[in-house]
Amino acid sequence: KTGYVTIDEGFKNTGSTKSAITFLDGEEGILRYRGYSIEELADKADFLEVAYLLIHGDLPTEAQYTEFVGKITKHTMVNEDMRKIFDGFPVNAHPMGIMSALVSAMSGFYPDSFDEKSPENLQLHIIRLLAKFPTLATWCYKKSQGHPINYPKNDLDYCSNFLQMMFALPVEDYKVDPVVSRALNKLLILHADHEQNCSTSTVRLVGSSKANIFSSVSAGISALWGPLHGGANQEVIEMLEAIRNDGGNVQKYIDMAKDKNSGFRLFGFGHRVYKNFDPRAKIIKKAADDVLEKLGVSDPVLAIAKGLEEAALKDEYFVSRKLYPNVDFYSGIIYRALGIPTNMFTVMFAIGRLPGWIAQWLELRDQNQAIGRPRQIYTGETHRPFVEKNKR
Ligand code: SDX
Repeated sequence: KTGYVTIDEGFKNTGSTKSAITFLDGEEGILRYRGYSIEELADKADFLEVAYLLIHGDLPTEAQYTEFVGKITKHTMVNEDMRKIFDGFPVNAHPMGIMSALVSAMSGFYPDSFDEKSPENLQLHIIRLLAKFPTLATWCYKKSQGHPINYPKNDLDYCSNFLQMMFALPVEDYKVDPVVSRALNKLLILHADHEQNCSTSTVRLVGSSKANIFSSVSAGISALWGPLHGGANQEVIEMLEAIRNDGGNVQKYIDMAKDKNSGFRLFGFGHRVYKNFDPRAKIIKKAADDVLEKLGVSDPVLAIAKGLEEAALKDEYFVSRKLYPNVDFYSGIIYRALGIPTNMFTVMFAIGRLPGWIAQWLELRDQNQAIGRPRQIYTGETHRPFVEKNKR
């Protein structure tokens, strides 16, 4: 009696909001953050410049950039009491589960995150989130290696700091290779926002109840973890390794992906919006060649990935469904060349996407949007009277 409801499974034809942050054109393969093309930003910008752009709407002046970076640098250390939560995890806990828990726990360390009371307080929480997220991420890696965690260093830039926290050891210094930090910078920029994808929509939905920024981002991390979303970058490498161990027979996996009964999909292929090519995948594919060559790394799965792409793009099943490599298809090959282990790939995606989640959450607040609460079409039982147990 509520009028009619139309079901749009997966929101394939539903717009959830107006937004001024990111523009996608799926047909033309265009991606812009606040009007700037991803191609230019990936080539010329610094990740924190892009974070500032997404959150504040414009590229920062020199002074604004220096202030923003200065604030973030000052907050990269994490409250030592967070270690007690972290130490409770088993060594093989997946880093995405740890990150979701630790970011949610931040709401306990930084209460009154409700921005109505003090907007400047919210800005500080956002700085804390951007600053501490990479530090927490490296804790996950160090634990999995049985290594002691490293502390951030104030004299390093964002990417270099992350890398030294990841790879420095008490027994030997870690010297950041500019090729590695530049490659990481580019990858983080390419992941920074992507309009109303699953994890961003999750952040906005949680934020629409006026939950705090930490809880909203924690929910986004959980959504990103799924293998159909950010978790795909880990699945891609595992898929490519399986193909490699199976004699490199890409056609066998393409045929499996076409067989609906196989339950197998080509990870890193297909996209809800991009129906020609994912502009990020094009940039990452080229960067993979550059980075591996500069690092003198030869990774046999790169050739397999290219062979798989070539074979799939000749196959009617993929062409008719407009399935092309997406952002996750080549990114893992670069992460691996940088020394980052497979189970950290989706955490890398989250580090990149964090400023986008924050920008979208802030926009939702500024829009003063109603709480997200869709309806349904009920298909269950009609009214039934209760029957006592001994009479059922
Ligand atoms: C990300 O939304 C975003 O912007 C996400 C993201 C971001 O930056 O936030 O871009 C990041 O999540 C990239 C996507 C990573 N996921 C994967 O690589 C997993 C594999 N891809 C698919 O599961 C799928 O393509 C999705 C999830 C990406 C998109 O799914 P859709 O839009 O719901 O499309 P669909 O599942 O309805 O597929 C349409 C058809 C179906 O076949 P038919 O029913 O028409 O016969 O294409 C088939 C699907 O079976 N199909 C695939 C396939 N992807 C789609 N068949 C084989 N292999 C695949 N990879």
